[in-house]
Order: sequence, then structure tokens, then C-alpha cells
Amino acid sequence: KQRVLSGVQPTGNLHLGNYLGAIRNWVEIQSQYENYFCVVDLHAITAPHTPATLAQDTYTIAALYLACGIDLQHSTIFIQSHVSAHAELTWLLNCITPLNWLEDMIQFKEKAVRQGENVNVGLLDYPVLMAADILLYDADKVPVGEDQKQHLELTRDIAARVNHQFGKEKAPVLKLPEPLIRKEGARVMSLTDGTKKMSKSDPSELSRINLLDPPDAIVKKIKKCKTDPMRGLVFDDPERPECHNLLTLYQLLSGKTKEEVAAECQDMGWGQFKPLLTETTVEALKPIQEQYKEIMGDRAQLESVLREGREKAAAIANTTLNRVKTAFGYSLPL
Ligand code: AQP
Repeated sequence: KQRVLSGVQPTGNLHLGNYLGAIRNWVEIQSQYENYFCVVDLHAITAPHTPATLAQDTYTIAALYLACGIDLQHSTIFIQSHVSAHAELTWLLNCITPLNWLEDMIQFKEKAVRQGENVNVGLLDYPVLMAADILLYDADKVPVGEDQKQHLELTRDIAARVNHQFGKEKAPVLKLPEPLIRKEGARVMSLTDGTKKMSKSDPSELSRINLLDPPDAIVKKIKKCKTDPMRGLVFDDPERPECHNLLTLYQLLSGKTKEEVAAECQDMGWGQFKPLLTETTVEALKPIQEQYKEIMGDRAQLESVLREGREKAAAIANTTLNRVKTAFGYSLPL
């Protein structure tokens, strides 16, 4: 089977963008692949973080993977910082990655503006750590939202550079991965601005719906979300980004087709649509929230899943790390 790797940062809660753009797709494809899903807690400190909640947030994300339907029969779940090869390979890749490749990354430029004068080296280096995550597992496919496409391309460029500099013609050191981006849900937009992606780092809580939001929070957020004064709801009107986004959320969460939703909503006003979207969202998140509660109630079981995950992941990662070190000319530890 081909191998898949993906991950989410444990910064705060997961939102509908993370779910519809990433995790739901992992669940859908997992039986076709051999999957590794990590909680990327080393990435989480590239922005200012809270030490007191980092470990707990990390467990929350791992539990949410399971609650969303990640099945251990097909998938391995582990915590990035528990497999030290991620940090080690990052250093080796750092030393062959041109600085200007990283300075050109859109996400770096956007986040650097937000961090102002306190931009740390880790933020710049985020995509190299991501490349290490993927390349350590010889991943064939990386299911991500559209916002990560550029980082995937960089991963391929870094792998190609390693192969070019240190590989033999018929024995490349690293495998070049392919992105797996589903069209629908690839870019879930903010509830307060339909031209911006839904994001954990948006200061407004009203801009996103979190997977663990209770029903009353969902009611409030959808009631207050940005709309427009037009009647009749349609997809794909560039003048109406909020309308397109909310219809898409309804489509994905209800499981209906785009055509069905377009027909159902074409004559609706917002007063009719908002309660419908609210109810659909609450119902879609209910089973995830129930499962999550159950999983968090058995900490020992969750720890055992992560311990086993770490062992499986580390075995593969260390093999790749040694291959790269050997190609770079290092002696291996005796
Ligand atoms: N709005 C989105 N629409 C579709 N997919 C999204 N993803 C994130 N936002 C959207 C996908 O979720 C996965 C995990 O993301 P992450 O938490 O590791 O990284 P992120 O991109 O930093 O998440 P956020 O919420 O977007 O955080 P900030 O605020 O830091 O920018 C990835 O597959 C991503 O594509």
C-alpha cells in the first residue's frame, strides 16, 4: 500500500477548516493507504505558545483524530516531539535549503507580519520541519488543505535537492511526495470575512466554529456571521464570498450534493437558511463530541495508543534518518 502522512498543530481547538479540509478526508481515504497521522507539537511553538496547556492540547488533538473516525486498523497516531528524528532531519535539511526559498513562502510572509518584530527563526523554518515530517516516512501522498500546497512543493524541492547532491542515480535518498487536495472543503473561509480562510490564529472567536463548540456557541456564531443583503442563495458568485462559503459548509456537513443544496436554497433568505445551517452543524458535530468525551475519559487507553504509535513511527523514521545521514557522509552511532 502507498503511505500517507499528515498532521495538525495543537494550537487551540480544531475548527471546521481543519476538519473539512484535512481530517475528514483522512478518514475517507484511510482504508486505501498505510497512514501516519501526527500531532505536530514542534510546529506549535513557531508562534508564541502557552507551556501550561501544550501537553493537554496535544492530547486533545490526538483524541479528536480518533473521535473524527481515524481507525487504528489502518492508521497510526503519534506525537511529533516523541520521535526525535523529526528535529534531527530538520537540521540536516536546513543545511541544504536556500534561505530565499523559505523567505518566499506565503504563509511565512503573512504570519511574519502578524508577529511583527518578534519573528523567530522557527517560523521561517516551519516548512523545513514539515518537509522532515513527510520525508521521514517516505510518504507517497499528503492530504492537506489548499493553504499547504506551497509547503508541499517546497518539500518536493528539498527532497530533489538532497537526491541531486547526495543520491546515486538509481538510488534516490528521499521519496518525492504528492499532495492530495480535495476540491470541496479545501478552503473553508472565516465566518466574519468570506475572503479570509478560517484559521486558529484569527483573534475573533466568532470567525470559526470549533469541533468542540457546544450548541449554544454554534447558534451564536452562525447568528452573527457575515452575510449580504441579497435574497436567494447561490454558489460561486465572486461578489458573494460569504454566501458561497456558508452554502458549502451546509453542503459538506449535510452530506448533500452541490446541486441539491443549490436547488434547496435558491429562493431562501438568510432568516430561513441560518437556522438550517445551525441545526445541520450541531447534528454533524454531535457524534464527534460524544466520541471525544468517551476517549478523553480513558486517559490510559489514549496513552497506550500514542505509545504504540510512537514505536511504529520511530522505527520507520530512524531508518530514513540513518539513510540520509549515511548519504551526507556521517558515521552512524555504534
Ligand atoms: N480554512 C481551512 N480550510 C481548509 N483546510 C484548512 N486547514 C487549516 N485551515 C483550513 C488544514 O488543516 C490542516 C492542519 O492545519 P494546522 O493546524 O496544522 O495548520 P494551520 O494551517 O496553521 O491551521 P490554521 O487554523 O490555519 O492555523 P493558523 O491560524 O496558524 O493559520 C492542514 O492540512 C491545513 O491545510
